[in-house]
Amino acid sequence: MSKETITILGANGMLGSDLQQTLLSSGFDIKCYDLPDFDITDTSQLEDSMQGSDFVINCAAYTNVDKAESDEIVANEVNGYSVGKLGGIAKKLKIPVIHISTDFVFDGKKESPYTELDKPAPLSIYGSSKLLGENLLLDSDADACIIRVEWTYGKDGANFITKIQDFARTRNQIKVVNDQIGSPTHTVEVSKSLRDILLLKQFPTGIYHFAANGYTSRFEMAKYLFEKLGIEVKIFPCSSDEFPAPAKRPLNSKFDCSKIEKLLGRKLPTWQEMLDEYIRLA
Ligand SMILES: NC(=O)c1ccc[n+]([C@@H]2O[C@H](COP(=O)([O-])OP(=O)(O)OC[C@H]3O[C@@H](n4cnc5c(N)ncnc54)[C@H](OP(=O)(O)O)[C@@H]3O)[C@@H](O)[C@H]2O)c1
Repeated sequence: MSKETITILGANGMLGSDLQQTLLSSGFDIKCYDLPDFDITDTSQLEDSMQGSDFVINCAAYTNVDKAESDEIVANEVNGYSVGKLGGIAKKLKIPVIHISTDFVFDGKKESPYTELDKPAPLSIYGSSKLLGENLLLDSDADACIIRVEWTYGKDGANFITKIQDFARTRNQIKVVNDQIGSPTHTVEVSKSLRDILLLKQFPTGIYHFAANGYTSRFEMAKYLFEKLGIEVKIFPCSSDEFPAPAKRPLNSKFDCSKIEKLLGRKLPTWQEMLDEYIRLA
């Protein structure tokens, strides 16, 4: 059991709260930071949060994708420039960084799964602010590992699963988009893999794609969930155009995860296995 100290930024968010539990139960010491007591845009708070730690994991982010469209300055500050500053401090203090990013750095126009070598082309302010953070972190020359995740859900956050269950409770028929394709990914599984990265002999740097195995649409995912939970509601497929939103979403969010599977030395669970585990834990 390791007794290394890990700084978790955004520790009370959906991913951060599962990560806290995973690291604690694996014997790590953790130092947790989040709004309102900690603001990643405050450089001195950021430096204080990292002092004396062996690693920092950044889960803090401006994640309201639609609101970001009219709040570009703040989104860039939180998701972009602060991540660059984090890199500068990490370089100075010689602390390796794991930073969480997103499939929204891509435009989703590619047919096949995205690899780490594909060129990002964000469709939204959120996506471009996250890409800015990735680039500034890489430019900082810190030991940085960027994990891009997608379609995440967990017990401590509002996400597609909680929203769709709320809809099903209040309506007897619902429409769900079937033209966005990706891999629903449980934050517990992300947390376990972040823990496993900390345990590697050599800290991996660069970009890694992380998602459940297999691809599905939001519609198929909702159908699977309702069947598993015994929720009886009529469900119909529709296109994203029927739900106009301020921010554009990529239609193809498929990730090629072979690079991280090689790093971890194991296959990642399928999206159905992850969803079954989420339901079992709920
Ligand atoms: N959810 C997804 O589907 C998804 C998909 C791809 C990538 N990601 C990435 O996954 C990572 C974790 O996100 P999540 O899903 O856990 O979202 P989340 O629940 O919104 O967590 C983000 C956390 O960061 C905090 N935060 C926001 N602004 C901050 C600031 N200025 N200083 C310090 N903390 C701040 C938030 O606090 P408040 O709640 O008080 O704002 C929240 O606790 C993020 O990097 C996100 O971009 C998420």
